[in-house]
Amino acid sequence: MSAKTFLLDGQPVSFVDGQTIMDAALAAGVYIPHLCHLPGYRPQGSCKLCTVDIGGRRGAACTNAAVENVDVKCETQELNADRRSLLQMLFVEGNHFCPSCEKSGNCALQAVAYRVGMRDPHFPHFYPAHDMDASHPEVLLDRNRCILCELCVRASRDVDGKNVFAISGRGMRARLIVNASSGRLADTPLAAGDRAMTVCPTGALLTKRQGFSVPIGRRTYDLKPIGTTAPARETQHG
Ligand code: SF4
Ligand code: FES
Repeated sequence: MSAKTFLLDGQPVSFVDGQTIMDAALAAGVYIPHLCHLPGYRPQGSCKLCTVDIGGRRGAACTNAAVENVDVKCETQELNADRRSLLQMLFVEGNHFCPSCEKSGNCALQAVAYRVGMRDPHFPHFYPAHDMDASHPEVLLDRNRCILCELCVRASRDVDGKNVFAISGRGMRARLIVNASSGRLADTPLAAGDRAMTVCPTGALLTKRQGFSVPIGRRTYDLKPIGTTAPARETQHG
């Protein structure tokens, strides 16, 4: 165990040199809200949900290295208010109709919104009409629920060695594409057992014929908020 520590909301958290604030906190069982990060994956730094106060300046916990004795604040009213705004933007940019989504109750996006007290969408809905890809026999891709976290891109490329997914376009035109000349999932080597299928924090990437199999009340986040389920260590979404 390293002797080095930093303070996270007043509690000492151990770290080793080079470890990020996020990875040190998760390894210690302390939750920092996040969507585009999972331990073991190269940090992406795109969702900004993990923004914390690091000794008086703001930064993403998933991309900033832990520094000895630095005072990090995460659970402040101001930071959680900004997290609610970020989540409201994600919700209106997509079609997150949770009552009809198979991922409801197991969805990190929904769960972190509950945790930080997001009560309404606040902003006008975009109602996007992105293509849905149901061509694959085992997998469904609903781009209207995709938050462009790129976890599936990283998992497919870096763990599965298949490089099935990519992001195309920039800004409001950015969308998840699949690396096949036809543009269809059916023409990629993706399999339902791939790691890429376990990392999606939303209902964008789903395994077919598994929906609604867990009764309401027993889904991942039905009983306890995200970050408080035992063990309090986030290793995968969903
Ligand atoms: S499909 Fe899921 S894992 Fe992939 S980029 Fe979209 S939200 Fe992230
Ligand atoms: S988890 Fe840090 S920016 Fe998304």
